[in-house]
Amino acid sequence: MAESVAETVTESPVKRLVVLVSGSGTNLQALLDAIAEMSAAVYGAEVVAVGADRDGIEGLARAERAGLPTFVCRVKDHESREAWDAALTEAVDAYEPDLVVSAGFMKIVGKEFLARFGGRFVNTHPALLPSFPGAHGVRDALAYGAKVTGCTVHFVDDGVDTGPIIAQGVVEVRDEDDESALHERIKDVERRLLVEVVGRIARNGYRIEGRKVVIL
Ligand code: GAR
Repeated sequence: MAESVAETVTESPVKRLVVLVSGSGTNLQALLDAIAEMSAAVYGAEVVAVGADRDGIEGLARAERAGLPTFVCRVKDHESREAWDAALTEAVDAYEPDLVVSAGFMKIVGKEFLARFGGRFVNTHPALLPSFPGAHGVRDALAYGAKVTGCTVHFVDDGVDTGPIIAQGVVEVRDEDDESALHERIKDVERRLLVEVVGRIARNGYRIEGRKVVIL
């Protein structure tokens, strides 16, 4: 009788995500749904905590419904922007994330946060960067008369929406669009892109070579 051979199965570890939100959290929900549907082991990552810069938002309610720990770090509770940045850094670090995802987080982080999480802090922006950075990417593209816009998933650096681009999705602007209709169509593309990109970088790993992101 043949002897049984012990197999060694090396599973790549599931990456830990902390997601930061400021609003309705539909991008967060898309991540949670994808992970629940295919399992964290298959997706390659799990959300271990959700943080926000304000109370009472649907993004936090979604995290609570999913049974996840949440934290709120408000600028106005701190003496200075630097003190807020240090507190946010510690709050995120407590969950030992491999990646931090800004999914509609409407704050610019500071030096300390970037020193701790630079190169593993991903943001999603509702425009085709480098066009229309900042807080009003959808409104600005519409006002400019752009015929196509979209969304950009990128690593965060010390500029405003200037970090290395990981992936982009294109959305056509329609004549009848207002900001809200256009943003909804962008978010439809954005949610799928974010889920795909975060899963790929979690499972495969990546290199940042200057402005280029190479997914391994
Ligand atoms: C998303 O469209 C995201 O790109 C945008 O906020 C929305 C959040 O939606 N972020 C920014 O504009 C950052 N400059 P959600 O709360 O439903 O995920």
